[in-house]
Amino acid sequence: MKIDPTVLDVKKTYEIMSYSVIPRPIAWVSTVSSKGINNLAPYSYFTPICNMPMIVGFSLGRKGKGKKKDTLVNIESTKEFVINMVTEALAEAMNKTATAYPPHIDEFKKANLTPAKSEIVAPPRVDESPISMECRLKQVLEFGEDAKFHNFVVGEVVMVHIKEEFVSDDRIMAARLDIIGRLGSRENLYCRTTDMFKI
Ligand SMILES: Cc1cc2nc3c(=O)[nH]c(=O)nc-3n(C[C@H](O)[C@H](O)[C@H](O)COP(=O)(O)O)c2cc1C
Repeated sequence: MKIDPTVLDVKKTYEIMSYSVIPRPIAWVSTVSSKGINNLAPYSYFTPICNMPMIVGFSLGRKGKGKKKDTLVNIESTKEFVINMVTEALAEAMNKTATAYPPHIDEFKKANLTPAKSEIVAPPRVDESPISMECRLKQVLEFGEDAKFHNFVVGEVVMVHIKEEFVSDDRIMAARLDIIGRLGSRENLYCRTTDMFKI
């Protein structure tokens, strides 16, 4: 089967992307609005980009009528964000923060999560997360047209927080983190990172 993306609608292209590029890590992005309200939302179009300096990126679609999501509005205004990693124990809370709440709603409160003070940036970390990366905005790229616009946010990691219990001999014990990945999209499927094999 061959598929020419130019003849597909956005629903179908999203389906192909989200069912092919799996599992996807989840950037649980905390930001703060210009009015000082905390915001938290998951983004699975997320990738590391560069190690030295540490650069990461994630991609946001638009709300209905092409309106920017709160995360993007906040990052464009404050130039800062934090990426928190999501464990299985945090999955339900993470899912709650994906609700399209209006900007004056603090998702930390809605999901019963603890905002922890960051070292360098203003947005708080998710205290319950095993790893958080404080980031400064480098670039916002635009793709697509009209309401199909996607923005790719590129940030430099300026501080990393790792819970001590997941570090041994100066290395992150990845197998112990229990971080989850996002599969597909329609059935809200996720995967664990505990079933590993070695090559
Ligand atoms: C696991 C998961 C991954 C998601 N990944 C993305 C993504 O990569 N891009 C996107 O635009 N929305 C994604 N969403 C949807 C956003 O989290 C959702 O639109 C959210 O309400 C945005 O919140 P905000 O307006 O506070 O930024 C995802 C949702 C879930 C549950």
